[in-house]
Amino acid sequence: MEITLALIKPHVVRNTYAMQQIRALISQNFTVLDQKEVCITKELSERFYAEHKGKYFYHRLTSFMNSGPSYALILQSEACIQKWRSLLGPTKVFRAVYADPNCIRSLYGLSDTRNACHGSDSEESALREISILFPEFDAAVGSRQAKREEA
Ligand code: CDP
Ligand code: MG
Repeated sequence: MEITLALIKPHVVRNTYAMQQIRALISQNFTVLDQKEVCITKELSERFYAEHKGKYFYHRLTSFMNSGPSYALILQSEACIQKWRSLLGPTKVFRAVYADPNCIRSLYGLSDTRNACHGSDSEESALREISILFPEFDAAVGSRQAKREEA
């Protein structure tokens, strides 16, 4: 069992219909270990997206993430990281619309930056991102629980 961090970005949190659809998709595909609305400050957003520091979209991205509440979830399933990322679809919405018209970014993304949701890209990033947004979450306890459920 794997865990990942899903983050629903601010423009989607303001859209009740989109939230309902995305949460339904999540509950059909994953176990939710924890979830909460979170106001991502500029500082938190800069830490979260530190790997993109210096890129031309960094300021635009970190300001957008600070523009209203986001919704964070810790998801669990087999191959969860890849599964959530394939439900998201390509990073760039204009590509998503052509490549996968029913993916989340295609349906609810508005632009390269406002691309609806985030998903961790590796086990290491998942743990790093979960520790930023859920500092109280104990990944070791989460994985022991998953092993018990598998047994
Ligand atoms: O989110 P993902 O891992 O698919 O893409 P990324 O390359 O790690 O980029 C992180 C985030 O930066 C994206 O989800 C977009 O919100 C934003 N971004 C942007 O604003 N403009 C770009 N040209 C590329 C990414
Ligand atoms: Mg990424």
